Amino acid sequence: MKQSDAVRFSFGENWASFSRSLTGQQLTEARESLRRLLGGEDLQGKSFLDIGCGSGLFAIAAAQLGAARVVGIDIDPVSVRTSQENARRWLPDVPLEFQQVSVLDEAAMEALGTFDVVYSWGVLHHTGNMRKALRVAAARVRPGGLFAIAIYNRHWSSPVWKIIKRMYNLLPGWGQRGMVWGFTPVIVLAKAVATRQNPFKMRRGMDFFHNVVDWLGGYPYEYASIEEMQAMLEALGLQIERVLPSHVPTGCNEFVARVPPLP
Ligand SMILES: C[S@@+](CC[C@H](N)C(=O)[O-])C[C@H]1O[C@@H](n2cnc3c(N)ncnc32)[C@H](O)[C@@H]1O
Repeated sequence: MKQSDAVRFSFGENWASFSRSLTGQQLTEARESLRRLLGGEDLQGKSFLDIGCGSGLFAIAAAQLGAARVVGIDIDPVSVRTSQENARRWLPDVPLEFQQVSVLDEAAMEALGTFDVVYSWGVLHHTGNMRKALRVAAARVRPGGLFAIAIYNRHWSSPVWKIIKRMYNLLPGWGQRGMVWGFTPVIVLAKAVATRQNPFKMRRGMDFFHNVVDWLGGYPYEYASIEEMQAMLEALGLQIERVLPSHVPTGCNEFVARVPPLP
């Protein structure tokens, strides 16, 4: 499914605002979530590519877990700048590379080389061409390496959210703020019912308010069921190692797959 580039959420401003209140505790949560997703995979001395690095939080977490070469890319220049600033603040002695690159730009992606771990959490479904993004991203994993991604789950409400998200991006600032206020109770209630847990409790070092903006604004928006994702990953020749289903129906399912080692 291909979506027009004309309507596109600028994630960068939201990440810059998120970063102004970033704490060490959130970084610890990011590290824990990365460790949990990668299971037994040790990042010590490995190369790590973070596609759609957002705030740079997970590139920093990967370096703190011992990755030797860490590259973060994002299509949004504000995300790239924010990631650089966060890395300078939280990890001043370790050089991390951040570049403005779109995962859909095959030549620029190829120029990055290959990596032991390619991580792309909540990104490929926002590119406007998820299938191509999956293919180009997976090609950056070196033989024997890991591909760790998160993709929005398919749910009966997904087409409705797609319209809501598109509408958000067509509104002026005051309209967007109105949507955030209007939808917050809906999101809180839906999350509480679905998880039976405190709806304000966040994972991966995220915070509730910026997550609502990210959810309402995140467009282009695609989604896929676990079975659809498994089929796409297997068609790319990847061996699926772990699938972690989303905690909420419209959330992200996580997949960890390995590129077979060379014979
Ligand atoms: C929901 S955020 C996720 C950020 C980060 N991965 C995380 O988990 O916190 C999606 C990010 O993907 C970026 N993005 C969207 N389309 C992209 C593309 N074609 N190439 C690279 N990054 C892209 C956005 O700018 C945004 O920073």
